[in-house]
Amino acid sequence: MRNIIITGGAGFIGSHVVRLFVNKYPDYHIINVDKLTYAGNLANLKDIEDKPNYTFVKADICDFETIMGIFRKHNVDGVIHLAAESHVDRSIKDPFTFAQTNVMGTLSMLQAAKLYWESLPEKWEGKRFYHISTDEVYGALEMTDPDGIEPPFTTKASSGKHHLAYGSKFFTEDLKYQPHSPYSAAKASSDHFVRAFHDTYGMPTIVTNCSNNYGPYQFPEKLIPLFINNIRHRKPLPVYGKGENVRDWLFVEDHARAIDLIFHKGTIAETYNIGGFNEWKNIDIIKVVINTVDRILGRKEGEDMDLITYVTDRAGHDMRYAIDSTKLQRELGWEPSLQFEEGIEKTVRWYLDNQAWMDNITSGEYEKYYESMYANR
Ligand code: NAD
Ligand code: TYD
Repeated sequence: MRNIIITGGAGFIGSHVVRLFVNKYPDYHIINVDKLTYAGNLANLKDIEDKPNYTFVKADICDFETIMGIFRKHNVDGVIHLAAESHVDRSIKDPFTFAQTNVMGTLSMLQAAKLYWESLPEKWEGKRFYHISTDEVYGALEMTDPDGIEPPFTTKASSGKHHLAYGSKFFTEDLKYQPHSPYSAAKASSDHFVRAFHDTYGMPTIVTNCSNNYGPYQFPEKLIPLFINNIRHRKPLPVYGKGENVRDWLFVEDHARAIDLIFHKGTIAETYNIGGFNEWKNIDIIKVVINTVDRILGRKEGEDMDLITYVTDRAGHDMRYAIDSTKLQRELGWEPSLQFEEGIEKTVRWYLDNQAWMDNITSGEYEKYYESMYANR
């Protein structure tokens, strides 16, 4: 039996990780610690909430005493830490909350784990603190066409596999941190604290940095679920700048599988980058989403293209993210299981089939947020 805290388990990625662990490991006790901010939603976990190996605790990770109490009560021996403020646009408006949750909250988790594990006779033996981070800590990559070929061009990863890319450089684990947004600056800081706890106290830590996730249960302030919902309701699709920014997209269940593998088999003190070698310009992804929604809703494919509305760019908008996940593929044999086209089809169908989930979110405070976000654009 292992007692594992998963923080942020009521959020987008966290809910997939909780579901995977609760179903796959009936001998583990999974303790989901989540404050239920606007982004936390217990409806994401309806299908597993009654399982005997699952416990939900509503708590703020910044509340050190409460977190300490959870470690003691449940004799916790593993942590998978996902709780964070996660949306770049919100971080531009309210950086304090990001520093508080992402930095101080992570520190509070680390210190509680340290004090509890150090108090046990076996100390660090059999323990693991796994911190989930983002590729955004590395900053932005340039769009290049080194051979004069119009990107995307086919390139070969160090794993030997071919894929499309918009530039010749990629985020590798040894790259220096250069965060640009308050969100990524706070995540970078939390990554440093996690490594410092390993280097200073010998805590068994692991950090992974993943690219943009997409899939079911993502809060509709992020590009893909927001646009699916807007297309359905024939509302404008606010494309920042020229829509030329590039992101590397990974289906959320593939991220959850990577987390499972790394939690169990990853080497202590290592960093692994997780990504799909799947770069897309925003505008191209938006067109795929429009065509897919239109087709599934029985509309003429592409008839909603005129919803595309170019708006003022995001401040400090990172141009390109592209992960090199060769290390993870080579050392632990992980690979994304889904082609992007399959993943998008699955995702669009899920949001259209789960209208009640979406309506439940968009009927509350959401409207105020949405209006304030786009009021000045
Ligand atoms: P999310 O915003 O959907 O969920 C965050 C969860 O954390 C919510 O359930 C929220 O209630 C909870 N939370 C927030 N503040 C808390 C606090 N103080 N105490 C306890 N719980 C709190 O985020 P997500 O997209 O699922 O991201 C999860 C993690 O993965 C984050 O650490 C994020 O930086 C990282 N990440 C996300 C992506 C992505 O594309 N979404 C990519 C790479 C890494
Ligand atoms: P987002 O989903 O917020 O993820 P991140 O900023 O972490 O990459 O945005 C993905 C891309 O889509 C990013 O380049 C910003 C852009 N974007 C828009 O053009 N319009 C929108 O309404 C949103 C939310 C994002």
